[in-house]
Amino acid sequence: MKILAVVGSLRAGSFNRQLASEAAKMLPQGVIMEIVDGGNLPLFNEDLEYPPPEAVTRLREKVKSADGIWFFTPEYNHFFPGNLKNMIDWLSRPVSPTEGQVLQGKPAAISGASPGISGTGIAQDHLRVILSYLDMKIMNQPRLIIPNVLNQVDAGGKLVLKESLPYLQKIVNSFVSFIIG
Ligand code: FNR
Repeated sequence: MKILAVVGSLRAGSFNRQLASEAAKMLPQGVIMEIVDGGNLPLFNEDLEYPPPEAVTRLREKVKSADGIWFFTPEYNHFFPGNLKNMIDWLSRPVSPTEGQVLQGKPAAISGASPGISGTGIAQDHLRVILSYLDMKIMNQPRLIIPNVLNQVDAGGKLVLKESLPYLQKIVNSFVSFIIG
């Protein structure tokens, strides 16, 4: 089984990217995770759609070959970041006149961490709306919302999960079961 982790941050030290890496370490045997972000995608422009940029084709192939997509999103101004919206806009478009968009029917999970008290919960709700519109099969529970993430970050900026650790393990197990169906 393969899970594609889509990280909504381009920041090198991103807590959300680190959260995805921590999740990858907890996967049961036989399940692998690949982590991607939207840093190499051009801004969506209908003039660029056909033929699509190579980076878009590569991302679509990764989505197609994945059994589930796990979004790790920061919260920017109570929303998910623009670069994640850009990724989703590219993925939401038909591959060709004979092939539809690649997100339809894919199992999806949403998680996130932030230094603030909302812990990405509001961004996650917004993301849920758009993924639902794109007909993804969203796991609504359990949710992983990590507020005050700096309490679980060491002086070097490394995420060192403490109280959130069992919740991360729980959502890993739940998402694998959800994908199996
Ligand atoms: C933020 N941040 C933030 N945090 C939050 O909890 N709610 C919010 O609405 C916002 N808004 C916001 C806007 C912008 C433009 C920035 C740059 C930041 C703080 C944000 O959660 C923090 O920078 C995280 O560390 C970003 O996630 P990564 O990059 O660590 O994954």
